[in-house]
Amino acid sequence: MNTSFNSQSFSRAVLLSLLTAFCFAALSHTAFAHGPTPPSLKGVKVPKVPGLVDGTNPIVINKTAAVALGKALFWDVNVGSDGMACASCHFHAGADGRVKNQLAPGLLRTNAATAKTFEKMASGALGRPNYTLKSSDFPFYQLANPRDKHSAILYRTDDVAGSSGSFLAQFDSVALTGKSRDNCTSVADDIFHIGQLNTRRLEPRNTPTVINAAFNFRNFWDGRANNIFNGVSAFGLRDKKAGIWIVQTDGTVQKRKIALRNSSLASQAVVPPLSNEEMSCSERTLPELGRKLLARRPLAAQDVHPQDSVLAALRHDTGKGLNTTYRALIRQAFAPRYWAGKGQFGTAQTGTNAYNQMEANFSFFFGLALQLYQDTLISDQSPFDTPRNAADIPTGLTAQQARGLTVFKEAHCLTCHKGPTLSAAAHPAIYSVPSDTGLPLVNRKTLKGSATGSGVAFALMDEGFVNTSVTPAGYDIGIGGKDPFGNPLSFSVQYVQFLKGRTTVLPDKIAIKSCAFDVPFFFDHNIGTELRKDPFGIAGCGAREEYGQVPTAAAISAEQTKLEQGRMLVATQGAFKIPTLRNVELTGPYMHNGSMKTLEEVVEFYNRGGNLDNPHHFATLTFPQGLTQTQKTDLVAFLKSLTDERVRWERAPFDHPALLVPHGHRLEVSAKNPNQWQDEFLAVKAVGRYGRSTAMGPVKPFHNLLQP
Ligand code: HEC
Ligand code: HEC
Repeated sequence: MNTSFNSQSFSRAVLLSLLTAFCFAALSHTAFAHGPTPPSLKGVKVPKVPGLVDGTNPIVINKTAAVALGKALFWDVNVGSDGMACASCHFHAGADGRVKNQLAPGLLRTNAATAKTFEKMASGALGRPNYTLKSSDFPFYQLANPRDKHSAILYRTDDVAGSSGSFLAQFDSVALTGKSRDNCTSVADDIFHIGQLNTRRLEPRNTPTVINAAFNFRNFWDGRANNIFNGVSAFGLRDKKAGIWIVQTDGTVQKRKIALRNSSLASQAVVPPLSNEEMSCSERTLPELGRKLLARRPLAAQDVHPQDSVLAALRHDTGKGLNTTYRALIRQAFAPRYWAGKGQFGTAQTGTNAYNQMEANFSFFFGLALQLYQDTLISDQSPFDTPRNAADIPTGLTAQQARGLTVFKEAHCLTCHKGPTLSAAAHPAIYSVPSDTGLPLVNRKTLKGSATGSGVAFALMDEGFVNTSVTPAGYDIGIGGKDPFGNPLSFSVQYVQFLKGRTTVLPDKIAIKSCAFDVPFFFDHNIGTELRKDPFGIAGCGAREEYGQVPTAAAISAEQTKLEQGRMLVATQGAFKIPTLRNVELTGPYMHNGSMKTLEEVVEFYNRGGNLDNPHHFATLTFPQGLTQTQKTDLVAFLKSLTDERVRWERAPFDHPALLVPHGHRLEVSAKNPNQWQDEFLAVKAVGRYGRSTAMGPVKPFHNLLQP
């Protein structure tokens, strides 16, 4: 073990907390103290965005109009270059419910021949574009003994159950009215094709639900949708060029940087409309999309339900789309300083006319309207949200679900799936966290306990992102990746670079207080020689003041030459955002790679302690559980207590316009483009505030949609 204890300063409190951490893995589940049941989500507010709708000079002057704009943008197929809406991948309990053309090669895998090829499926069928997923294809990782991760591997694949989006094509221009498809030149796709013709391509990760995503501090499986919205891109303060045009008090219009906090959903929203895997021909820009949309009626070709909870009052007489334009909605929703300026802004991508201010700032309106709409997609009325009895059990739970809640606690699920959203990736403000020590966005924890046989290791980790060994880490490194500017996505990696003096602030400008770590540095470093005062100070550390110490640059460099970076281990490779478990019954397939079709498969995965032991596998928490069959069934029943009937029946706020979702291909040449296969469609009907009819039936779990 690579530690040197300093006995003098080694306080009793630290010792106790560490002992707890060590014993974690060793104790049988019955002996473990499980903590209280997470609180209901009812009454928990979406974290505020200072300056957005409040203050003396708010950005949004009419929130109702902004939400209507966001809902229209989310469901409108005209937002895509070739018929994709946001909702095309998020129409099923906020996630994707398609089964055809949903298979992608392991595109995020580095240095492997199979990264670009489709493998044989577990069912024996050959994976390929336009493949229809079958029940017998799951799970994507199969063992001779499903209870033992060390038994023989029968099947595994780096392929992913993802979401199909656009056809590969180069962007040329948009039509300002009429034609809804952008003008693009088809490009031969070397992966997503059958014969000479292109199929729709895929985003190589599974689609998480947008419901309750408003509570996440950062979004995406790898957290790359920054908490701070810069008005233009996903990367917050890291994107030094980002800025928007604002009318100044002297009447001139200037490009200014903005930094809106708690706006990860806006940072996220500006990504798909430019992604050639999701909604766009290659190299389209948001001003260009603005130019396409502004004069149009939202949802022009889509049914809007007369009882739509947001759009009813704006519904066009024909029942198709709204009786207004995107331009009019932006003018209603946003303060004029963002769109009323005269002049020309930036060089147009196509055509000869420079952009007007509204077009030039379209990314800003788009991101914020989608954020405000998704802020309304809050699901807080599940049986789990009912009042608690004396034993701290929600009274709406069945007896079996209540037993399942106990298993949930005993099997340590709560440590990661914690707080009212059942996710530690939620904004720290929604937990009862001592705010004076700053945000616990980075922590130092016991990654491996002595009882696991792999030695003890402490690691810096991004709170809310862990490696649970769903796949070998090399298949997709998750938050271990970098942004396009070369900065680490991970706060922990940024923090170490900062401690080494390589930067004077973290790229995301967050403050990290070392005194708040579960395992402070002074536990395993020498105070006199290896540590220095925490540059972020000790204010607010209270009784933990003496823990406010960080390693010197020299001490860090010395550790980093050691195996697994010694005491400076940072566990980010293959770590993914801990997803919310709310409505999880309806949001399959599961995990970042969509590799499990049922909650039973997920529970069996946890019961064996993960599929394998990745180097950064969180072994103190994800280890074999030895659950009985009854415990497993109870646990699944508990997970279903997290379903909100409004989500199952698409009642307000989860009602929506109609949508034709591309769902695989018929093998005939597309009538729209001779280089593409013809789309098949899944018809999603318009639903009003009172939800789906009994004839339509409820939204079904994913495995019910699969063929055997
Ligand atoms: C082609 C399918 C597709 C389309 C179209 C699409 N998404 Fe997604 N969405 C995904 C996938 C896949 C992910 C996960 C990607 C990742 O984490 O790398 C995702 C992630 C998200 C998340 C993050 C949720 C979380 O918990 O991390 C949000 C929010 C979201 N999408 C909203 C939108 C919005 C808004 C649009 C339209 C502007 C949109 N999506 C368009 C497939 C799609
Ligand atoms: C060490 C932290 C950790 C623990 C403990 C943990 N989870 Fe998870 N859970 C995660 C992460 C991270 C993911 C996503 C992993 C991935 O996609 O690779 C996840 C995914 C899931 C999913 C899939 C959700 C989706 O939308 O895809 C379910 C269901 C789930 N966990 C339930 C549980 C249950 C039940 C337990 C207890 C037996 C548990 N988790 C324990 C971190 C954890």
